[in-house]
Amino acid sequence: MTRHFLRDDDLSPAEQSAVLDLAAEMKADRFRYRPLAGPRSVTVFFDKVSLRTRLSFETGIAELGGNAIIVDTQATHFGRGESLADAGRVVSRYASAIVFRTSGDERLAELASDVGVPVVNALTDGFHPCQLLADLQTVRERLGGTAGRTLTYVGDTANNMAHSYALAGAMAGMHVRLAGPAGFEPRPDVVARAGEIAAGTGGSVRVLRDPYEAAKGAEVLATDAWTSMGQEDDGVDRLTPFRPYQVNADLLAAAAPGAIVLHCLPAHRGEEITDEVLDGLQSAVFDQAENRLHAQKALLAWLLEDHS
Ligand code: CP
Ligand code: NVA
Repeated sequence: MTRHFLRDDDLSPAEQSAVLDLAAEMKADRFRYRPLAGPRSVTVFFDKVSLRTRLSFETGIAELGGNAIIVDTQATHFGRGESLADAGRVVSRYASAIVFRTSGDERLAELASDVGVPVVNALTDGFHPCQLLADLQTVRERLGGTAGRTLTYVGDTANNMAHSYALAGAMAGMHVRLAGPAGFEPRPDVVARAGEIAAGTGGSVRVLRDPYEAAKGAEVLATDAWTSMGQEDDGVDRLTPFRPYQVNADLLAAAAPGAIVLHCLPAHRGEEITDEVLDGLQSAVFDQAENRLHAQKALLAWLLEDHS
């Protein structure tokens, strides 16, 4: 059966761990694995802009011996009525895998609905699961493991990163705390699912209001943009309610000594994170950005070689 990676919990906790093990191997011996040699192609669709995702997939697919076909969907029929299900069926006749960055999760699900090759979520409004593989790889590198560690995410707890931290963090056995302002709560179904997962992995998931209570003693302090792609003109005040949730030196001081700081980037310096913290000794954000490459290579290799 074809395996897709549409959200974090499309892998089991053991499978997530296997992909992260492979990502570490690939990072240590970067050009050894060539499962796409031939070359086989992977099509990567973007409904939204990108720097890291685009370049890490394009680079990673090349390093796996394959050919990345990057498509900005404005140049396709996506916006003028071609069914995404039909597009997925067509592209699966050419490509060994399909990667898609889009808005609604239903668009990704539609593209994947009748496709016999792996489909990978490169960010939707609901989830950013490839980012979480990179984040967890970074946590493993910096802290020696994930199980039992506390990861606190502060800011927009209604966004894709918050949801993916809840699911993927729980899968990795972490104690995940999400703290954000009223009106920006995570989806209840995602929190409930993360709780179920945590019950099996020894992790936990809590939603809090107070950023200092959430950050207290955390080994990982993470944040993300207060305005996600597509929200720029929605008329919602995305500055005032979020200001108490800025990751700055005071909030970091509440975390565990030696805590690491994560941000998926792009950062809005001076909003959700200060220069001092982003550029400081506890910041792991550029390793985190690098790990997109290794984690996604491992994911593609795992989906293509062994499990589809
Ligand atoms: N973190 C991330 O997904 O960055 P891009 O939007 O630049 O791809
Ligand atoms: N939450 C952000 C993540 C960007 C990588 C967004 O969706 O724009």
